[in-house]
Amino acid sequence: MSILEKIETLKQQASEHIIDQQEKVEEFRLKFLSKKGELNELFEEFKKVSGEEKKELGKQLNILRQQIESLYNDAKEKFSSTEKKFSANADETLPVNAYKIGSLHPISIVKNDIISIFEKIGFNVENGPEIEDDWHNFTALNFAENHPARDMQDTFFVEKKPKGNFALRTHTSSVQVRLMEYTKPPIRALMPGRVYRNEDVSARSNCFFHQIEGLYIDENVSFADLKQTLYYFVSQFFGEREIRFRPSYFPFTEPSAEMDIYLGTATEQDKRLTKGTGWLEILGCGMVDPNVLENCGIDSSKYTGYAFGMGIDRITMLRYGIKDIRQMFENDVRFLEQF
Ligand code: PHE
Repeated sequence: MSILEKIETLKQQASEHIIDQQEKVEEFRLKFLSKKGELNELFEEFKKVSGEEKKELGKQLNILRQQIESLYNDAKEKFSSTEKKFSANADETLPVNAYKIGSLHPISIVKNDIISIFEKIGFNVENGPEIEDDWHNFTALNFAENHPARDMQDTFFVEKKPKGNFALRTHTSSVQVRLMEYTKPPIRALMPGRVYRNEDVSARSNCFFHQIEGLYIDENVSFADLKQTLYYFVSQFFGEREIRFRPSYFPFTEPSAEMDIYLGTATEQDKRLTKGTGWLEILGCGMVDPNVLENCGIDSSKYTGYAFGMGIDRITMLRYGIKDIRQMFENDVRFLEQF
């Protein structure tokens, strides 16, 4: 048999050699790869070859060696891992290492809690884009042409002024407009989302934050309905607390109010949050201005509605005693794992 034929035969033998248990791995090594194994024998024989033939044979032999080595390595790997998995000494009743899963961000937790309170009384959730056009963020909501919010000092425009039609939405009220434009009353929805304002970043305020707004439009909706809904929300979220409404102004509601809850002044934190008054502002609200209804194609002689909006970030800080708003967006897992 020529060396070339022997190479072929050995190749076949090795690949057909059955390794079905661990002992056979070593048997394979002894037969093919050890010093006195068949591969080495061929290499010995190869030493005697000379001339042109040597080059081609050397190549073939090296290929054969690689093939046999990889058969051996695969078998070794296979049996070493089964051994670990099914070792007779292993106690399979021991608990496995806990798999680390992530947790919800505190803002998401609070947002979900708020949503579930309102879902119980028939509100559903609506979303809208974060880059918004002038119509949905300002004009349809009755903002005057020269309202300061339309200024670059207050709003992040995506295009430069004077064109500047697109901006990062400054409130989720823009989603109200979209909703009113494409659905017919009755409408009862919650609009959570991230909003952006061109403000200095500090422990208490950020250039983006999260809002959740509510909108209810039907025949005969009154301010009493608004108050009752908010009483219900406060009792569910904060527990029984005193609340008060103060007259306020928003371009898109008339009349408008701000709602405060009574925290008291028992702790230093209470005093700081309430500026010593005991009252903390929680949300803005009011009856949807008839102009806004008309802008969105809703007949204001037939329908009325209320809207309210609150900042989720501040409520989250209040609930968990978070002192610096920036901590919530640094993505430090030591902070995030606490929730
Ligand atoms: N959009 C208002 C804000 O950003 C909040 C608000 C919503 C007020 C709905 C009244 C009604 O401050």
